[in-house]
Amino acid sequence: MTDKTSNNNPEASAMWGGRFDQGPSEIMEKINASIGFDKRFYAQDIAGSKAHCAMLVSQGIIAKEDGDAIQKGLDQIKGEIEAGQFTFKSSLEDIHMNVESRLKEIVGDAAGRLHTARSRNDQVATDFKLWVRDTLDAVDSGLKGLQAVLISLAESQAHTVMPGFTHLQTAQPVTFGHHMLAYVEMFGRDRSRFIGARKRLNESPLGSAALAGTSFPIDRHQTAEALGFAYPTRNSLDAVSDRDFALEFLSAAAITNIHLSRMAEEIVIWCSSQFGFVRLSDSFSTGSSIMPQKRNPDAAELVRAKAGRVIGNLNSLLVTMKGLPLAYSKDMQDDKEPVFEAADTLGLCIAAMTGMMSEVTVNAGRLKEAAGNGFSTATDIADWCVRVLNMPFRDAHHVTGALVKMAEDKGCLLEELSLEEMQTVEKGITEDVYNVLSVEASAGSRVSYGGTAPENVLQQVAEAKERFLK
Ligand code: ARG
Repeated sequence: MTDKTSNNNPEASAMWGGRFDQGPSEIMEKINASIGFDKRFYAQDIAGSKAHCAMLVSQGIIAKEDGDAIQKGLDQIKGEIEAGQFTFKSSLEDIHMNVESRLKEIVGDAAGRLHTARSRNDQVATDFKLWVRDTLDAVDSGLKGLQAVLISLAESQAHTVMPGFTHLQTAQPVTFGHHMLAYVEMFGRDRSRFIGARKRLNESPLGSAALAGTSFPIDRHQTAEALGFAYPTRNSLDAVSDRDFALEFLSAAAITNIHLSRMAEEIVIWCSSQFGFVRLSDSFSTGSSIMPQKRNPDAAELVRAKAGRVIGNLNSLLVTMKGLPLAYSKDMQDDKEPVFEAADTLGLCIAAMTGMMSEVTVNAGRLKEAAGNGFSTATDIADWCVRVLNMPFRDAHHVTGALVKMAEDKGCLLEELSLEEMQTVEKGITEDVYNVLSVEASAGSRVSYGGTAPENVLQQVAEAKERFLK
């Protein structure tokens, strides 16, 4: 705020009224105001101002009495906002000017000294980084909670055999625990993307001022440290025009939502009466107003759907940023809504998935029955022929294909073929082949590193607890 707050025309903005005779038109105010959404980072804005004020005092740029008054005023404003007693005004455009204007009402002219050696350009970059940083931490802990639920399901269902699919056609038996751990890996990569984004984000723009830095003897290391940043940013032009942190958050969020939507899709399929693999609890199912038998997986369907929004939020900000010249452009005010929407959506989807999976019932009987359909152990016969009869795999594949065809023609399972019938295809086959034909034997034999065998799953569960839940 400059001292030139009085103006011939009372309509002109108090913040820059010195150069203006007239205030903005109604439409101008409407398109210009961001307070409707950026009030969401009032706490970060006040924290940034407090750090800046303390530094101005310790550098001797403003007087201690003014600094003390400002600090007290800022605390009061925070209290007013949190008590719902603060009136946000769109005529004051954004959170920065709403806070500063109220500060002037509380502490008088000293308030005008707070904006020394800074600009809303470094201020908004700082606030937004602080907000995204808090969000990255919240997402990380949400994903950790989801992983904990999946790891415990993997442990309790390590021996549960189910069909593994490729092309959504029955492929080979796998264990339910193994399937859960696949998602634990995905969410683990997601977490590492959020953690990586946090590390790159953690440099303070504060003190870059409008774009060029400032002539005041500020200490940017002090404000960086006060706000928990690792360092101040090194280039003032970059600092005020960088929104990579928002884009990185959105891309990591979009990938996470894609993982959540794939999982949601599996839940939808698994809940159908045709599959019947799992049952969602009443608290995560809905009924139909007309069909009393229905039990719909609405939460899963909505998690599946919402990935679309987050992908849209990422695209929206990518396109906004594309081609913007250095340094700040007002286009960048439009960075917040996609990030807020994505953060809310992602948080809700993680919570819904965690809720669904912590109460899911696994139908082991149905899973085992389905695991045996579709000649899912055919590969095990081929592997047996290679191992016991020393056949080249391609020949073994051919023999097995003929056995599958025979079973298909007879309308029976592979293990229902008699030894004599099998020997008409390959005379070397012995009784021993039946040992590999059960779905448990099939899954249990896949002990290669990363494979589906229950003993592997239990080992991976132990490692996952160390890697992800510490
Ligand atoms: N409300 C603005 C934003 O969100 C703050 C920065 C405004 N800076 C400016 N030079 N108009 O980006």
